[in-house]
Amino acid sequence: MKMMLAGKLMYSLMIIIVIINTINGNCPDDEKELASPAVVIITNTSVNAKPECVVPTDCKAWKELGVKQNGVYPIKPDNGPAFQVYCDMETDGGGWTVFQRRQDGSVDFYKYWTDYENGFGDLTGEVWLGLSKIYRLTKEGSNTLRVDLEDFEGNTAYANYSTFSISNASTDFILKVGDYNSGSAEDSMTGHNGRKFSTRDRDNDGNDCAQTFTGAWWYTRCYFSNLNGQYFNSSTTNRQGIIWVTWRLITLKFTEMKSR
Ligand SMILES: *[C@@H]1O[C@H](CO)[C@@H](O)[C@H](O)[C@H]1NC(C)=O
Ligand SMILES: *[C@@H]1O[C@H](CO)[C@@H](O)[C@H](O)[C@H]1NC(C)=O
Ligand SMILES: *[C@@H]1O[C@H](CO)[C@@H](O)[C@H](O)[C@H]1NC(C)=O
Ligand SMILES: *[C@@H]1O[C@H](CO)[C@@H](O)[C@H](O)[C@H]1NC(C)=O
Repeated sequence: MKMMLAGKLMYSLMIIIVIINTINGNCPDDEKELASPAVVIITNTSVNAKPECVVPTDCKAWKELGVKQNGVYPIKPDNGPAFQVYCDMETDGGGWTVFQRRQDGSVDFYKYWTDYENGFGDLTGEVWLGLSKIYRLTKEGSNTLRVDLEDFEGNTAYANYSTFSISNASTDFILKVGDYNSGSAEDSMTGHNGRKFSTRDRDNDGNDCAQTFTGAWWYTRCYFSNLNGQYFNSSTTNRQGIIWVTWRLITLKFTEMKSR
């Protein structure tokens, strides 16, 4: 038992040291532009090996490096600059990059297009990672989506989708989601498949749904889910709130959206 704890501690220390080294600029000079912040990952233990300066592409890649702790990590999904995300390393095998969380109403989500494009909030609290980052995260390859929900009575539910991505800014971040394959929340997302994102100042649904339902979403006319809606401190039936229609027609306490 003691040995195991010591081992775990050593492991955590190793990761932390790696990240601190990086902050001190301990990366090979010629790779400085590769990533900021860059992370030194030891993959070659040969005595003359040159440290490799890379950033994992997403939380799944961190997971594959052996990281098991939930928390904030730098990622670099493409040639653009690196950025920070919250990684869920526990749920359904871990390796999830979290891009949305509601939990206490501390952050106002009734925001504008540029806010939703760039992201807002705190990675460890209420957060919207930003459409341009979600695009960069999902544009390559096969991503899945998981949505976790909790109501004010402590009931939880989830929805798991095999397909998930959004298009680029010039096409208004069209949602591509499908193949709901498991969960207890049922499917309130594929009804939004193929829809552009709308905010209070950019109506892409033609029905002013963002203004009517005080949110920002891939609205149709208007929604099956409204997870960026207004936060209510208790369960209500107000349709301007955080709602996942196929689970409960009441406002929710907690939501998390994540990709892997
Ligand atoms: C590890 O580094 C050594 C020394 O630079 C090199 O000769 C060797 O090919 C590297 N091994 C791998 C698997 O990259
Ligand atoms: C969610 O879907 C993925 C495949 O898209 C699958 O690998 C995973 O096991 C599913 N999770 C659950 C909890 O059903
Ligand atoms: C955005 O995506 C569309 C459709 O895939 C593509 O035609 C266009 O070139 C892309 N624009 C940019 C700026 O990447
Ligand atoms: C929710 O509760 C917080 C603190 O408990 C309070 O500041 C806030 O005004 C409440 N919001 C609503 C919509 O009742």
